[in-house]
Amino acid sequence: MIFDFNPKSQEAANEIGAKFFQGDVSKAESVEAAVAKTVEEFGSLDIAVASAGVGGEGDVVTSTVENWERTNGIDYSGGFYTNKYVTEQLLKQGYGGVVANLASMFGLVAVSNNIAYSASKGGVMDMTRAAGTMHAKEGIRVNAVAPGVIRTPLIDEPTLEQYASLHPAGRVGEAQEVAALITFLASGKAKFITGATIPIDGGYTAV
Ligand SMILES: NC(=O)c1ccc[n+]([C@@H]2O[C@H](COP(=O)([O-])OP(=O)(O)OC[C@H]3O[C@@H](n4cnc5c(N)ncnc54)[C@H](O)[C@@H]3O)[C@@H](O)[C@H]2O)c1
Repeated sequence: MIFDFNPKSQEAANEIGAKFFQGDVSKAESVEAAVAKTVEEFGSLDIAVASAGVGGEGDVVTSTVENWERTNGIDYSGGFYTNKYVTEQLLKQGYGGVVANLASMFGLVAVSNNIAYSASKGGVMDMTRAAGTMHAKEGIRVNAVAPGVIRTPLIDEPTLEQYASLHPAGRVGEAQEVAALITFLASGKAKFITGATIPIDGGYTAV
């Protein structure tokens, strides 16, 4: 099931034979409805990736209150709603499950010209620690990934160029590389990993 605000995601769903639910992750009732629809379609919900996000803009002075509320409403509260309703469903099913949250290296180190994003991604990591330990005995694992700058529609070309050399690896990352880490975290090979945030940033936060 693909959950997204943008109706164009229907095309992506068609391409890979997935179902599509159009909703707004910043609205709790929308996320709750998406979880219910997924269970209705597939009989259960076993793995969730909380990825919906926006970039945010502005520093401690230039960020507007609207920008703060929108960015945190989607990137932080949206993450909470997803963790909440998915975990509720996993507990009902009774055999464990997996949640992967999209944090960012900018939750680990400062991005001083984007305070709302920085705060929301730091919050995602703390939420992951709390959610990933609460039901660990019941086999519910919650982890986060903290990517560096990754080539996706979220990042414009000048920003990709600017950041490439700032990663010790000398390049930005690819979406498939992040997907591979999430796939590992969702697999049985990662069954002793919970409450963790794993950087995937070409070494950016290591120096
Ligand atoms: N690209 C990067 O460099 C990078 C780095 C670190 C973390 N991340 C995080 O990874 C996640 C995915 O980002 P991406 O780079 O694939 O960006 P993207 O813009 O390609 O994808 C984000 C998706 O979220 C959807 N979305 C936005 N607001 C929504 C809402 N209110 N409800 C439902 N869906 C909504 C958008 O329609 C879009 O399809 C985000 O949480 C982002 O913060 C990205």
